Amino acid sequence: MKIQTDIIILGGGIAALQTARQLSRRFDVHIITKTDLTASSSYQAQGGIAAVIAPTDDTSIHIQDTLKAGEYHHNVENVKTLAEYGATAVKSLLKRGFPADRTQQGEISLGLEGAHSQRRIIHAGGDATGKYLVDYYAADMPKNVFIHTYEFAYELLLNPAGECCGVQVKTATGEKTYFASYIILATGGAGALYEYTSNCSDSYGDGIALAYLAGAAVTDMEFVQFHPSLLYVDGTHGLISEAVRGAGGKFIDESGHAIMYGKHPLGDLAPRHITAYEMYKMRAQEKSVYLDISPIQHFAEQFPTITKLCERYRVNIANGRIPIAPGSHFLMGGIIASPYGETSIPRLLAVGEVACTGVHGANRLASNSLLEGIAFGELLAARLLKNGTIQTDFDVITPKKEMLQPSLAKNELQHEMFANAGIIRSEKGLRKLLTKLPLLTVQPDFSSKSREEIELIFMHITAALITNAALARPESRGAHIRQDMSEKKKEWEKRWIVFQQGIMKV
Ligand code: SIN
Repeated sequence: MKIQTDIIILGGGIAALQTARQLSRRFDVHIITKTDLTASSSYQAQGGIAAVIAPTDDTSIHIQDTLKAGEYHHNVENVKTLAEYGATAVKSLLKRGFPADRTQQGEISLGLEGAHSQRRIIHAGGDATGKYLVDYYAADMPKNVFIHTYEFAYELLLNPAGECCGVQVKTATGEKTYFASYIILATGGAGALYEYTSNCSDSYGDGIALAYLAGAAVTDMEFVQFHPSLLYVDGTHGLISEAVRGAGGKFIDESGHAIMYGKHPLGDLAPRHITAYEMYKMRAQEKSVYLDISPIQHFAEQFPTITKLCERYRVNIANGRIPIAPGSHFLMGGIIASPYGETSIPRLLAVGEVACTGVHGANRLASNSLLEGIAFGELLAARLLKNGTIQTDFDVITPKKEMLQPSLAKNELQHEMFANAGIIRSEKGLRKLLTKLPLLTVQPDFSSKSREEIELIFMHITAALITNAALARPESRGAHIRQDMSEKKKEWEKRWIVFQQGIMKV
């Protein structure tokens, strides 16, 4: 089956929905997701949206907090755009009626999260901000936005001019080819490359693999953020939001001692790479770690989603502690893109977590990601609404393809990634992993492969990019912690490791 339209968006999180909603003013938009709109990191986001709306706050402070948390490995201009344009976009979302939580006085209730120097986290439903946001956007999607669920995109199509002009997908019953004037990747991150993750279980970095195979440049892949507090009951089961610590929760050990005491001036609200590393070290010594929630009044009212999650796994919150472990949470790296979504391939755009615009540096500031989806989705759309042109060349070039056998099973890859390219890395571990994860230089032949087989190849591609980048960065910065190179090197602050067509450039 062949469909020709104006815009294709892959992914169903906030970046996709915001972009689609705006673009629908001029274009027909088809959203394609491999599951449905509830299976995204956006939908699962608990904490909220970081934005400067309080009169006591200022975008210059938000910018400073962002740069400090990400250890200055940013595109500073784009950080400014995020904070400034983001504040405007969020204010207009609130004005349109997004049901953010309010104080008893009727003001927007602003939460606090790690590495923020101000209360600026807008939330909804207590700890269900992402669900409220996705539901809000989905509820009044314009009629010319068509949502296709359970369709798996596995190859981007290019014309002889090197422009992206379509995408090949697998459905439950067969194949579809979509042709469009613009293809927008909003497929999110790659948390499920790791054994423990807060992300959806099929968050494999598909968009990055798709773009890389089509020849797009990707960068910052060594920067994977690990969240310190995932619910841990014989494995991890979703997030215990940092907002819990913002409300007074503390990391404790089995005997109730405060783990973060004396470790960082911000204590339990230190940047995530610091807290995740401390939890990791404890667990590596086979010690259990918990969040002490006893100081928090009316916990179940403030955190209904977390309360339900705990009930599901028979953790009694009345005991005042929740067992936790760190796990992968967010990919700072991705497809090199401008705040308007432009990538190195004409007519291929990227927005949200799959894109790397340099706004997160080496470690994302909490709740800046929903902000990114809202702000850059709107910016991307504004530019296409103004300058977008109609594609006329749908002649697809067929690259030479080769059969490929992935070297690891899915659970082996997830285990190996957590052990060797996870919270703490070393040259020895990374080199060992690379023997099983070489950088791909050929286009795999997917013609006879199932969705699951293709996903496994995508996992190998994205994991290889992370592992190669982690080996190539000879320092520790933000979320990239090298056991054998613990210092930060000034000369590496503004150096980017870029991959394109099988070649790594530093
Ligand atoms: C959280 O609620 O702790 C996560 C927020 C985020 O990752 O931005």
